[in-house]
Amino acid sequence: MIYKAEKPRLLTGDTPTGKLHLGHWVGSLENRVKLQDKYECYFLLANIHAFTTRADRPGDIRQSVLDIAVDYLAAGIDPQKSVIFIESEVSAIYNLASIFSMLIPFPRLMRNPTLKDEIRDKNLGENYSFGFMLYAVLQVADILAFCPEVVPVGEDQLPHLEMTREVARRFNQMYCGVDPHTEDADYLKAGGLLPIIQPLVGRVERLIGLNGPNSEGRLLKMSKSLDNAIFLSDGPDVVAKKVMSMYTDPKRIHATDPGTVENNPLWVFHDVFNPDTAWVTHTKELYRAGQIGDVTCKKKLIEVLNDLLEPIRRRRIDYQNDLSQVLQILKKGADKANEVAETTLAAVKKAIRQDFGA
Ligand code: TRP
Repeated sequence: MIYKAEKPRLLTGDTPTGKLHLGHWVGSLENRVKLQDKYECYFLLANIHAFTTRADRPGDIRQSVLDIAVDYLAAGIDPQKSVIFIESEVSAIYNLASIFSMLIPFPRLMRNPTLKDEIRDKNLGENYSFGFMLYAVLQVADILAFCPEVVPVGEDQLPHLEMTREVARRFNQMYCGVDPHTEDADYLKAGGLLPIIQPLVGRVERLIGLNGPNSEGRLLKMSKSLDNAIFLSDGPDVVAKKVMSMYTDPKRIHATDPGTVENNPLWVFHDVFNPDTAWVTHTKELYRAGQIGDVTCKKKLIEVLNDLLEPIRRRRIDYQNDLSQVLQILKKGADKANEVAETTLAAVKKAIRQDFGA
């Protein structure tokens, strides 16, 4: 075991391709804020991942790194407790990625369902870069560099975490003499260097967006690029406007028409965000019976969302106009992250018998 921490470690991150929205909140961010006392937390801004699909927009990536750092701080990630850092500031990650890449069969990488989905959803066709495939390996290194126990993510990331587990098992078997029949939880006890991490999926696996179904009748995931998101940084008026124009039940013209609750974003959002479950259950009945209008239910949702976002808005004020404070937090985060990742790299080099220091 490389480290003996007082608390178990947690690592996760985001690819800076925009600001964070409510989908990020329920998928993972909410968990992270809660787990800060129980775990030693590392939150990574995966800026090199962002280059896989937008290498031509470095300025946007830079802006998004800063936006997300502010989103983290506003959401309640406390820089006194947790480490926030930028991937490219930690060179040991690249070193580890090249060592780990030897342990991943290429056809295995090509079968990764998340990579396949992304190629389809982002219309990458045959033209995706070599680096696009490499990013999954980089993610393995992002994670294992910190030897965390848990990795909170959205469910679309599970294939990458499975690959992380496979690499750690293989590494420990090949270089640390761990018996392949060892239980995942016992790898470190059995002499392994790298933990077999546990994924932690948020309470909502995939939050839908504000728009109606696509041409195939599917409600799509909340995402900046689909223009169907409520951002953590949206002000009260923007939230109100977005909710007022959100998709509900298209068959319902008048408040007296019976309404459908299933797959209706209005009710999906109430289910996810409204803490007053008695109100939700009761009002759904009224809605089904045509005894309450959309507008009343939307107004309630606006209140619920603004209650959630208000403390986030208040904390944001401290940071958003003070870039130097944010940069300082990121610098301090990088220092700590480098210390940990360098320790892992040194131990990995030793395990693969390529330690040649004096
Ligand atoms: N690929 C992740 C995403 O797009 C972000 C990410 C990069 C990440 N490195 C990570 C998540 C390490 C967890 C752990 O959401």
